[in-house]
Amino acid sequence: MNAAFQGKRVLITGGMGFLGSNLAIKLVDAGARVTITDAMIPGYGGNLFNIDCIRDQVTVNFCDVRDVHVMNYLVRDQDYIFHLAGQVDHILSMTDPFPDIDINIKGTAVLMEACKHHNPQARVIHIGTRGQYGPAVSLPVNEEAPTHPKGIYEISRLTAEKITQVYNDIHGVKSIMLRLTNVYGARAQMRHARYGVVNWFVRLALDDQTIQLFGDGTMKRDFLYVDDCVQAMLMAAACDAAYGQIFNVGLDQPTTFKQLAEVLIDVAKSGHWEYAPFTPERAAQEPGDFYSDITKIRTLVGWQPVTPLAEGLQQTILYYRQYKSHYW
Ligand SMILES: NC(=O)c1ccc[n+]([C@@H]2O[C@H](COP(=O)([O-])OP(=O)(O)OC[C@H]3O[C@@H](n4cnc5c(N)ncnc54)[C@H](O)[C@@H]3O)[C@@H](O)[C@H]2O)c1
Repeated sequence: MNAAFQGKRVLITGGMGFLGSNLAIKLVDAGARVTITDAMIPGYGGNLFNIDCIRDQVTVNFCDVRDVHVMNYLVRDQDYIFHLAGQVDHILSMTDPFPDIDINIKGTAVLMEACKHHNPQARVIHIGTRGQYGPAVSLPVNEEAPTHPKGIYEISRLTAEKITQVYNDIHGVKSIMLRLTNVYGARAQMRHARYGVVNWFVRLALDDQTIQLFGDGTMKRDFLYVDDCVQAMLMAAACDAAYGQIFNVGLDQPTTFKQLAEVLIDVAKSGHWEYAPFTPERAAQEPGDFYSDITKIRTLVGWQPVTPLAEGLQQTILYYRQYKSHYW
């Protein structure tokens, strides 16, 4: 399947981060010629160690996706562009909205303008979030559901998606818009708890700390293992019929936070959990139960997640046990 990328030129914005680095590793494996760009903004997800195993096989350009001249240059000759550079901290977006507006919205516009003027043949994969829906009207949530995002981060991602859609529809820059659920696995930032809830729980369990479950722990999510997520990106990108479309990328089996904590502690053989009240900032942004309807991507692209929660957590734990010093 990933043979479609053999010899192809691929640009990954935000490629030093969690998803971008995992994607880069799979693309190198598939024989692609990968260029990574990342601004390495302190406190964000960029980590040089994330690409340690492919360091000599990728081109790295430390630059900002908002830099018009650099992006105009970098998009030339690329076959595929995976756009993952972004401010992803939901909590921060509610105290300071400007990084989201500037990076997620303007950065996307800079990239799409660069494609329009310098490489309209490039195929763009935009990475958005299930947060764009806001509270679910009915479950599971499909792509036709209304979008009423509750936070600035989520609004910025929805706006960026709509910008990408305009360049697809009006300017002919073929693009796919993915809306990811909560993804977990190796190479995520582990220094703070403001985003990546599953990975934060993994850190607490590995350090034999207490995981706090907000409310009564029965809230549902579809936690997706990073390898499955990357495979969705690759399969969508390789599928002609996927261009111009929005797809959910999630898991068809929801899990409660309590089940997550129990499986995690069981697999890690360390850690504890307790109930705790929502913090005010979490309560303000909490959309309640969410899980994705993935019928569309399964039917059109043929992608299906294959990693059970316990196995994904096992792999995640193995990675951070071995490389903990590079993450916290
Ligand atoms: N991880 C998830 O569960 C999840 C879920 C839904 C959507 N997403 C989306 O996927 C994308 C990647 O998320 P991630 O989890 O890998 O986050 P991450 O923070 O690990 O990676 C983002 C990368 O973008 C880089 N970056 C930030 N601003 C930049 C700028 N101005 N110029 C260039 N690079 C910049 C950061 O340095 C970081 O390396 C984001 O757009 C995020 O909104 C992630």
